Amino acid sequence: MTGVVYLVGAGPGAADLLTLRAVKLLERADVVFHDALVPDEVLFLSKNSIKIKVGKRSGRHSTAQAFINKRLADAARKYKVVVRLKGGDPLLFGRAQEELAYLKKSRIRVEIVSGVTAALAASAELGVSLTARGVSRSVAFLTTRAAPGERPNAWLEVALAADTAVIYMGAGEAESIAGALIAAGKPPTTPVALVEHASLPGVRKLSGTLAQLPALAQRCGNGPVAILMGEAYRDVAASNIIASWPNEKSSEHSSSSPTARATRSGRGRSSSS
Ligand SMILES: C[S@@+](CC[C@H](N)C(=O)[O-])C[C@H]1O[C@@H](n2cnc3c(N)ncnc32)[C@H](O)[C@@H]1O
Repeated sequence: MTGVVYLVGAGPGAADLLTLRAVKLLERADVVFHDALVPDEVLFLSKNSIKIKVGKRSGRHSTAQAFINKRLADAARKYKVVVRLKGGDPLLFGRAQEELAYLKKSRIRVEIVSGVTAALAASAELGVSLTARGVSRSVAFLTTRAAPGERPNAWLEVALAADTAVIYMGAGEAESIAGALIAAGKPPTTPVALVEHASLPGVRKLSGTLAQLPALAQRCGNGPVAILMGEAYRDVAASNIIASWPNEKSSEHSSSSPTARATRSGRGRSSSS
């Protein structure tokens, strides 16, 4: 008998943002293949399963996708409930299509369980609607990273066309992103906000203008960062900096100096993939 592979969204990090369906599957799972970004708090919900870390972080060792595909298929031949747990929503920037295609070819049943994607959790942290009425009628989820064969600058057209753009995996490339957007005609005064570790106790929020994006990104730490851009963030950007540091979640509009904040945040910048 062959088992079922469930591609499950782990959400942005907070365990209580998992769907009920995801929790039930984690409880029933025989084996859980999970991304690097999935926190222990979420993994603890799957008490009896074998946990296998297969995630990828940029600049670090990555388990080859083909190897992950094969391991999922092998596990389904051995176990009844195989969970492939991916950060956020499994169908957004998560290499899900490769896994789906391989499992389909291997005649293994797959079910998808949606999760809360980072863009939504990040905007919730800012208290801003991505589709603020009268301001934004379109939202683009994008990344500047191109797969082989993709046009490297296709993201730029999308970012220019959408009222609200959310850039995934972009903090490490903030300078080139801001430069490309401004050179393509986006006003340097366009509001931007960065949210690191959305939904988690260590959330950090920064805001300003597109011209300030590289400097804002410098202040981020090593966690995952979503960059949000568009008129919907005008009020947030006007408050210039809003920063929440670990254990200081309620102290938005902190009175400490930007220099002090930058020092505390550290300079490391990584994005996940
Ligand atoms: C490989 S993509 C995976 C996206 C994921 N499938 C989703 O739907 O959110 C990883 C990127 O998502 C964003 N991200 C994931 N979790 C985040 C969080 N808690 N806060 C802010 N951004 C996050 C960051 O841009 C990060 O580099």
